[in-house]
Amino acid sequence: MELFETISKRHSYRGGFLDKKIPKEDLYKIVQTGIDAPTGCNAQSVSFVIVDDPATIQAITKVVGGKQVCKTAQAMIVCVCDKTPAYGNLSFFVEDCAAATQNMLLAITALGYATVWIDGAIRGEIATKIAEILSVPKEKEVRILLPLGVPETPGKPNTKNSFEQRAWFNRYGG
Ligand SMILES: Cc1cc2nc3c(=O)[nH]c(=O)nc-3n(C[C@H](O)[C@H](O)[C@H](O)COP(=O)(O)O)c2cc1C
Repeated sequence: MELFETISKRHSYRGGFLDKKIPKEDLYKIVQTGIDAPTGCNAQSVSFVIVDDPATIQAITKVVGGKQVCKTAQAMIVCVCDKTPAYGNLSFFVEDCAAATQNMLLAITALGYATVWIDGAIRGEIATKIAEILSVPKEKEVRILLPLGVPETPGKPNTKNSFEQRAWFNRYGG
């Protein structure tokens, strides 16, 4: 899929997935786009756990409260952040993680899969439980969970405010 088409087609999908395995090759491709994303000071503060073991997917689904999009997910990608400051006392791990996630969302869309960026819903205790399931070192933080698969019923992009409402040349507000 062409880049601009992929960007416009990407959307958050929270429905169920078909019982169709995702080839490891596609999982490598998707996560490589996360690895290739820019990071502050090239600190590469984000690492990724790819979960394709059904028992582990179910264990994570349980701790996130049985969300439909997790229950039938064929794989999950979990972003793990190293919070060590990258430049003086500046940390960029949040931005690094977001850049990696957006790349992966686009790759997932381009390959014909669907997902949703789960972050707000797992902050705190749930993220800690996911970290325990995946043996993430205590000093690192689980931040984003992407459940993925072939969607049962294709979703559609959300409506966004118009260009005129959100962007201007040279001066805020036009
Ligand atoms: C930082 C961030 C956190 C998010 N956290 C969640 C979440 O915890 N659960 C969820 O269902 N969607 C989550 N989303 C997805 C947003 O709800 C979604 O992107 C937004 O509604 C716009 O829809 P779209 O992705 O289809 O354009 C998150 C998105 C971002 C960027």
